[in-house]
Amino acid sequence: MMRALLKRGLQRHQQQHQHHQRCSFVLLDRTTSASSFSLTSSFTSSSTPTSNEEKSASLDNDEEKKSSEKEKEDQASFGYTSVPKTKKESLVRDVFESVAPSYDVMNDLMSVGMHRLWKDYFVHKLASFPGMTHLDVAGGTGDVSFRVLKKLRKVDREGNGKEAKSRVIVSDINPAMLKVGEERAATKGLKNPGFDTKTDAELEFVEANAEKLPFEDESIDQYTIAFGLRNVTNIDIALREARRVLKKGGRISILEFSHVEEEPLKSLYNFYSFAAIPTMGQIVANDRKSYQYLVESIRKFPKQERLCDIMREEGFSSVDFENITGGIVAIHNGYKL
Ligand SMILES: C[S@@+](CC[C@H](N)C(=O)[O-])C[C@H]1O[C@@H](n2cnc3c(N)ncnc32)[C@H](O)[C@@H]1O
Repeated sequence: MMRALLKRGLQRHQQQHQHHQRCSFVLLDRTTSASSFSLTSSFTSSSTPTSNEEKSASLDNDEEKKSSEKEKEDQASFGYTSVPKTKKESLVRDVFESVAPSYDVMNDLMSVGMHRLWKDYFVHKLASFPGMTHLDVAGGTGDVSFRVLKKLRKVDREGNGKEAKSRVIVSDINPAMLKVGEERAATKGLKNPGFDTKTDAELEFVEANAEKLPFEDESIDQYTIAFGLRNVTNIDIALREARRVLKKGGRISILEFSHVEEEPLKSLYNFYSFAAIPTMGQIVANDRKSYQYLVESIRKFPKQERLCDIMREEGFSSVDFENITGGIVAIHNGYKL
Protein backbone atom coordinates (compact mmCIF):
# COMPACT_ATOMS: atom_id res chain seq x y z
CA MET A 1 0.00 0.00 0.00
CA MET A 2 2.91 2.30 0.91
CA ARG A 3 4.58 1.56 -2.42
CA ALA A 4 1.36 2.26 -4.37
CA LEU A 5 0.93 5.53 -2.49
CA LEU A 6 4.50 6.62 -3.13
CA LYS A 7 4.31 5.60 -6.79
CA ARG A 8 1.05 7.45 -7.28
CA GLY A 9 2.64 10.52 -5.73
CA LEU A 10 5.58 10.33 -8.15
CA GLN A 11 3.32 9.93 -11.18
CA ARG A 12 1.09 12.79 -10.12
CA HIS A 13 4.11 14.90 -9.50
CA GLN A 14 5.59 14.18 -12.92
CA GLN A 15 2.35 15.22 -14.59
CA GLN A 16 2.05 18.36 -12.54
CA HIS A 17 5.66 19.41 -12.78
CA GLN A 18 6.16 20.28 -16.37
CA HIS A 19 7.03 23.65 -14.97
CA HIS A 20 9.65 24.05 -12.29
CA GLN A 21 8.69 25.27 -8.93
CA ARG A 22 10.69 28.43 -8.29
CA CYS A 23 11.88 28.87 -4.78
CA SER A 24 10.53 31.82 -2.99
CA PHE A 25 12.94 34.02 -1.13
CA VAL A 26 12.57 33.40 2.56
CA LEU A 27 14.12 35.15 5.47
CA LEU A 28 16.82 33.33 7.32
CA ASP A 29 15.49 31.36 10.22
CA ARG A 30 17.70 32.71 12.93
CA THR A 31 17.26 31.43 16.45
CA THR A 32 18.14 33.83 19.21
CA SER A 33 20.99 32.59 21.29
CA ALA A 34 20.11 31.34 24.74
CA SER A 35 22.06 33.94 26.63
CA SER A 36 22.01 33.96 30.38
CA PHE A 37 20.30 36.78 32.27
CA SER A 38 21.36 35.66 35.72
CA LEU A 39 23.60 38.69 36.27
CA THR A 40 20.89 41.16 35.39
CA SER A 41 18.34 39.55 37.66
CA SER A 42 20.70 39.54 40.64
CA PHE A 43 21.20 43.26 40.11
CA THR A 44 17.52 44.00 40.05
CA SER A 45 16.93 42.15 43.28
CA SER A 46 19.62 44.11 45.14
CA SER A 47 20.41 47.79 45.25
CA THR A 48 20.16 50.04 42.20
CA PRO A 49 23.24 49.42 40.03
CA THR A 50 25.72 52.14 39.26
CA SER A 51 26.40 52.85 35.61
CA ASN A 52 29.82 51.11 35.90
CA GLU A 53 28.19 47.99 37.31
CA GLU A 54 25.64 48.09 34.50
CA LYS A 55 28.40 48.39 31.91
CA SER A 56 30.35 45.48 33.35
CA ALA A 57 27.22 43.30 33.56
CA SER A 58 26.36 44.02 29.98
CA LEU A 59 29.95 43.24 28.93
CA ASP A 60 29.72 39.93 30.77
CA ASN A 61 26.44 39.22 28.97
CA ASP A 62 28.00 40.03 25.62
CA GLU A 63 30.90 37.70 26.35
CA GLU A 64 28.56 34.90 27.35
CA LYS A 65 26.42 35.49 24.28
CA LYS A 66 29.46 35.41 22.01
CA SER A 67 30.83 32.26 23.57
CA SER A 68 27.48 30.48 23.35
CA GLU A 69 27.16 31.55 19.69
CA LYS A 70 30.68 30.28 19.04
CA GLU A 71 29.83 26.99 20.76
CA LYS A 72 26.77 26.67 18.54
CA GLU A 73 28.82 27.38 15.42
CA ASP A 74 31.25 24.63 16.38
CA GLN A 75 28.45 22.07 16.66
CA ALA A 76 26.90 19.94 13.94
CA SER A 77 23.86 17.75 14.07
CA PHE A 78 24.43 14.05 13.99
CA GLY A 79 20.83 12.98 13.69
CA TYR A 80 19.12 14.50 16.72
CA THR A 81 22.34 14.70 18.67
CA SER A 82 24.51 17.78 18.61
CA VAL A 83 28.19 16.88 18.25
CA PRO A 84 31.39 18.90 17.82
CA LYS A 85 31.94 19.56 14.11
CA THR A 86 35.31 17.87 14.34
CA LYS A 87 33.60 14.60 15.34
CA LYS A 88 30.79 14.42 12.77
CA GLU A 89 32.90 13.23 9.85
CA SER A 90 34.19 10.17 11.68
CA LEU A 91 30.75 9.35 13.10
CA VAL A 92 29.24 9.46 9.58
CA ARG A 93 32.14 7.40 8.31
CA ASP A 94 31.39 4.72 10.95
CA VAL A 95 27.73 4.65 9.88
CA PHE A 96 28.53 4.03 6.21
CA GLU A 97 31.33 1.61 6.95
CA SER A 98 28.84 -0.36 8.97
CA VAL A 99 26.01 -0.23 6.40
CA ALA A 100 28.13 -0.67 3.23
CA PRO A 101 27.64 -4.45 2.80
CA SER A 102 23.87 -4.25 3.25
CA TYR A 103 23.41 -0.75 1.81
CA ASP A 104 21.81 -1.72 -1.51
CA VAL A 105 19.47 -4.34 -0.04
CA MET A 106 18.42 -1.93 2.70
CA ASN A 107 17.79 0.82 0.17
CA ASP A 108 15.37 -1.42 -1.68
CA LEU A 109 13.68 -2.51 1.52
CA MET A 110 13.41 0.90 3.17
CA SER A 111 12.09 2.68 0.12
CA VAL A 112 10.11 -0.32 -1.15
CA GLY A 113 12.12 0.00 -4.35
CA MET A 114 11.18 3.64 -4.83
CA HIS A 115 14.80 4.84 -4.70
CA ARG A 116 15.30 3.26 -8.14
CA LEU A 117 12.50 5.36 -9.62
CA TRP A 118 13.76 8.50 -7.90
CA LYS A 119 17.27 7.93 -9.26
CA ASP A 120 15.96 7.12 -12.75
CA TYR A 121 13.98 10.34 -12.78
CA PHE A 122 16.89 12.35 -11.33
CA VAL A 123 19.29 11.13 -14.04
CA HIS A 124 16.65 11.51 -16.75
CA LYS A 125 16.43 15.22 -15.87
CA LEU A 126 20.20 15.80 -15.94
CA ALA A 127 21.94 17.58 -18.78
CA SER A 128 23.94 15.43 -21.17
CA PHE A 129 26.17 16.17 -24.11
CA PRO A 130 28.98 14.26 -25.80
CA GLY A 131 32.38 14.41 -24.14
CA MET A 132 31.24 15.84 -20.83
CA THR A 133 32.82 15.36 -17.41
CA HIS A 134 30.36 14.34 -14.75
CA LEU A 135 31.22 14.21 -11.05
CA ASP A 136 29.01 12.26 -8.65
CA VAL A 137 29.93 13.25 -5.10
CA ALA A 138 29.06 10.99 -2.13
CA GLY A 139 28.42 8.51 -4.91
CA GLY A 140 28.53 5.51 -2.55
CA THR A 141 27.97 2.23 -4.34
CA GLY A 142 27.51 3.95 -7.69
CA ASP A 143 23.75 3.88 -8.30
CA VAL A 144 23.58 7.38 -9.78
CA SER A 145 26.94 7.20 -11.56
CA PHE A 146 26.04 3.95 -13.33
CA ARG A 147 22.88 5.50 -14.68
CA VAL A 148 24.76 8.63 -15.80
CA LEU A 149 27.43 6.46 -17.43
CA LYS A 150 24.87 4.53 -19.48
CA LYS A 151 23.23 7.75 -20.57
CA LEU A 152 26.51 9.39 -21.56
CA ARG A 153 27.77 6.38 -23.47
CA LYS A 154 24.63 6.54 -25.55
CA VAL A 155 24.96 10.30 -26.03
CA ASP A 156 28.65 9.93 -26.94
CA ARG A 157 27.86 7.26 -29.53
CA GLU A 158 25.06 9.26 -31.08
CA GLY A 159 27.52 12.13 -30.75
CA ASN A 160 27.94 15.28 -32.70
CA GLY A 161 29.88 13.76 -35.56
CA LYS A 162 33.15 14.09 -33.67
CA GLU A 163 34.76 11.50 -31.47
CA ALA A 164 33.65 12.30 -27.96
CA LYS A 165 34.40 10.45 -24.80
CA SER A 166 32.76 11.47 -21.55
CA ARG A 167 34.12 10.89 -18.06
CA VAL A 168 32.09 9.85 -15.06
CA ILE A 169 33.75 10.14 -11.66
CA VAL A 170 32.25 8.46 -8.60
CA SER A 171 33.69 10.01 -5.49
CA ASP A 172 33.00 9.22 -1.87
CA ILE A 173 34.71 9.77 1.46
CA ASN A 174 34.25 6.15 2.40
CA PRO A 175 36.45 3.47 0.81
CA ALA A 176 34.09 0.71 2.01
CA MET A 177 31.23 2.17 -0.07
CA LEU A 178 33.49 2.71 -3.09
CA LYS A 179 34.75 -0.87 -2.88
CA VAL A 180 31.19 -2.22 -3.08
CA GLY A 181 30.64 0.20 -5.99
CA GLU A 182 33.69 -1.06 -7.88
CA GLU A 183 32.59 -4.66 -7.44
CA ARG A 184 29.11 -3.82 -8.68
CA ALA A 185 30.51 -1.97 -11.70
CA ALA A 186 32.59 -5.02 -12.60
CA THR A 187 29.60 -7.34 -12.21
CA LYS A 188 27.48 -5.09 -14.41
CA GLY A 189 30.19 -5.00 -17.09
CA LEU A 190 30.55 -1.25 -16.73
CA LYS A 191 34.28 -1.31 -16.19
CA ASN A 192 37.08 -2.40 -18.43
CA PRO A 193 36.95 -4.95 -20.15
CA GLY A 194 33.16 -4.72 -20.31
CA PHE A 195 33.25 -1.88 -22.78
CA ASP A 196 35.29 -0.35 -25.56
CA THR A 197 38.06 1.65 -23.90
CA LYS A 198 38.74 3.67 -27.04
CA THR A 199 35.31 5.15 -27.43
CA ASP A 200 33.22 4.51 -24.34
CA ALA A 201 32.89 6.92 -21.45
CA GLU A 202 35.04 5.88 -18.56
CA LEU A 203 34.10 5.32 -14.97
CA GLU A 204 36.56 6.38 -12.28
CA PHE A 205 36.42 5.89 -8.52
CA VAL A 206 38.00 8.58 -6.35
CA GLU A 207 38.07 8.74 -2.55
CA ALA A 208 37.25 12.33 -1.65
CA ASN A 209 35.61 14.54 0.93
CA ALA A 210 32.83 16.69 -0.56
CA GLU A 211 34.25 19.61 1.45
CA LYS A 212 37.71 19.34 -0.09
CA LEU A 213 37.58 17.91 -3.56
CA PRO A 214 40.80 16.84 -5.27
CA PHE A 215 39.76 18.35 -8.61
CA GLU A 216 40.93 21.45 -10.38
CA ASP A 217 38.94 24.66 -10.55
CA GLU A 218 36.44 24.74 -13.42
CA SER A 219 37.10 21.16 -14.53
CA ILE A 220 33.62 19.62 -14.17
CA ASP A 221 30.55 20.07 -16.41
CA GLN A 222 27.98 18.59 -14.07
CA TYR A 223 27.99 17.78 -10.37
CA THR A 224 25.52 15.48 -8.65
CA ILE A 225 25.10 14.52 -5.02
CA ALA A 226 22.37 12.02 -4.18
CA PHE A 227 21.36 11.33 -0.59
CA GLY A 228 24.78 12.61 0.41
CA LEU A 229 24.51 16.30 1.27
CA ARG A 230 22.76 15.74 4.58
CA ASN A 231 25.72 13.68 5.73
CA VAL A 232 28.41 16.28 5.19
CA THR A 233 29.45 18.37 8.17
CA ASN A 234 29.34 21.78 6.48
CA ILE A 235 26.77 21.99 3.69
CA ASP A 236 27.91 25.51 2.79
CA ILE A 237 31.54 24.43 2.35
CA ALA A 238 30.52 21.42 0.22
CA LEU A 239 28.46 23.72 -2.02
CA ARG A 240 31.36 26.17 -2.29
CA GLU A 241 33.60 23.30 -3.38
CA ALA A 242 31.01 22.19 -5.91
CA ARG A 243 30.95 25.67 -7.37
CA ARG A 244 34.73 25.88 -7.44
CA VAL A 245 35.15 22.70 -9.50
CA LEU A 246 32.27 23.45 -11.87
CA LYS A 247 32.97 25.12 -15.19
CA LYS A 248 31.10 28.32 -15.99
CA GLY A 249 27.62 27.29 -17.10
CA GLY A 250 28.02 24.03 -15.16
CA ARG A 251 25.16 22.58 -13.18
CA ILE A 252 24.71 21.15 -9.71
CA SER A 253 21.85 18.73 -9.04
CA ILE A 254 21.05 17.53 -5.56
CA LEU A 255 18.77 14.59 -4.84
CA GLU A 256 17.96 14.40 -1.17
CA PHE A 257 15.31 13.29 1.29
CA SER A 258 13.30 16.35 2.12
CA HIS A 259 10.22 17.46 4.00
CA VAL A 260 6.62 16.34 3.58
CA GLU A 261 4.10 18.97 4.61
CA GLU A 262 0.77 17.55 3.51
CA GLU A 263 -1.42 15.13 5.41
CA PRO A 264 -2.07 12.22 5.43
CA LEU A 265 1.28 11.46 3.78
CA LYS A 266 3.18 13.37 6.49
CA SER A 267 1.85 11.25 9.39
CA LEU A 268 2.10 8.04 7.44
CA TYR A 269 5.68 8.81 6.44
CA ASN A 270 6.67 9.83 9.99
CA PHE A 271 5.22 6.66 11.41
CA TYR A 272 6.90 4.53 8.76
CA SER A 273 10.30 6.21 9.16
CA PHE A 274 10.56 6.11 12.91
CA ALA A 275 8.84 2.79 13.56
CA ALA A 276 9.81 0.65 10.57
CA ILE A 277 13.21 1.76 9.30
CA PRO A 278 15.32 1.31 12.47
CA THR A 279 13.60 -2.04 13.04
CA MET A 280 14.46 -3.16 9.49
CA GLY A 281 18.04 -2.01 10.11
CA GLN A 282 18.09 -4.16 13.23
CA ILE A 283 16.71 -7.25 11.52
CA VAL A 284 18.53 -7.07 8.17
CA ALA A 285 21.82 -5.40 9.05
CA ASN A 286 21.90 -6.00 12.81
CA ASP A 287 22.44 -2.24 13.12
CA ARG A 288 19.57 -0.26 14.55
CA LYS A 289 21.67 2.79 15.48
CA SER A 290 22.89 3.60 11.96
CA TYR A 291 19.37 3.50 10.58
CA GLN A 292 18.05 5.59 13.45
CA TYR A 293 20.71 8.16 12.45
CA LEU A 294 19.60 8.02 8.80
CA VAL A 295 16.00 8.79 9.74
CA GLU A 296 16.95 11.59 12.14
CA SER A 297 19.41 13.16 9.70
CA ILE A 298 16.58 13.53 7.18
CA ARG A 299 14.52 15.52 9.69
CA LYS A 300 17.49 17.79 10.49
CA PHE A 301 18.23 18.57 6.83
CA PRO A 302 17.21 22.09 5.70
CA LYS A 303 13.75 22.43 4.22
CA GLN A 304 13.37 22.88 0.46
CA GLU A 305 13.29 26.72 0.44
CA ARG A 306 16.09 27.02 2.96
CA LEU A 307 18.37 24.83 0.83
CA CYS A 308 17.62 27.10 -2.13
CA ASP A 309 18.76 30.04 -0.03
CA ILE A 310 21.97 28.32 1.00
CA MET A 311 22.68 27.50 -2.65
CA ARG A 312 22.15 31.14 -3.61
CA GLU A 313 24.33 32.31 -0.72
CA GLU A 314 27.08 30.10 -2.14
CA GLY A 315 26.78 31.81 -5.50
CA PHE A 316 24.56 29.49 -7.54
CA SER A 317 22.14 31.03 -10.00
CA SER A 318 18.76 30.01 -11.38
CA VAL A 319 18.20 27.87 -8.30
CA ASP A 320 15.03 25.81 -8.25
CA PHE A 321 13.63 22.70 -6.68
CA GLU A 322 11.16 20.02 -7.48
CA ASN A 323 9.34 17.87 -4.92
CA ILE A 324 8.94 14.21 -5.70
CA THR A 325 6.50 11.88 -3.98
CA GLY A 326 5.00 14.71 -2.00
CA GLY A 327 8.38 16.01 -0.80
CA ILE A 328 9.73 12.72 0.57
CA VAL A 329 12.57 13.56 -1.77
CA ALA A 330 13.40 16.75 -3.66
CA ILE A 331 15.69 17.68 -6.52
CA HIS A 332 17.50 21.01 -6.24
CA ASN A 333 19.26 22.49 -9.25
CA GLY A 334 21.57 25.46 -9.63
CA TYR A 335 24.07 26.84 -12.12
CA LYS A 336 27.46 28.46 -11.95
CA LEU A 337 27.12 31.47 -14.19
C1 LIG B 1 23.12 7.53 1.68
S1 LIG B 1 24.66 7.30 0.87
C2 LIG B 1 24.29 7.73 -0.79
C3 LIG B 1 25.06 6.96 -1.81
C4 LIG B 1 24.64 7.15 -3.26
N1 LIG B 1 24.79 8.52 -3.68
C5 LIG B 1 23.23 6.69 -3.49
O1 LIG B 1 22.40 7.52 -3.85
O2 LIG B 1 22.95 5.51 -3.32
C6 LIG B 1 25.58 8.66 1.46
C7 LIG B 1 27.04 8.63 1.07
O3 LIG B 1 27.65 9.86 1.44
C8 LIG B 1 28.99 9.60 1.76
N2 LIG B 1 29.54 10.74 2.50
C9 LIG B 1 29.25 11.14 3.76
N3 LIG B 1 29.96 12.24 4.07
C10 LIG B 1 30.69 12.56 2.98
C11 LIG B 1 31.61 13.59 2.68
N4 LIG B 1 31.91 14.53 3.57
N5 LIG B 1 32.18 13.62 1.46
C12 LIG B 1 31.89 12.66 0.54
N6 LIG B 1 31.03 11.65 0.77
C13 LIG B 1 30.43 11.59 1.98
C14 LIG B 1 28.90 8.32 2.55
O4 LIG B 1 30.14 7.67 2.66
C15 LIG B 1 27.86 7.54 1.74
O5 LIG B 1 28.45 6.73 0.78
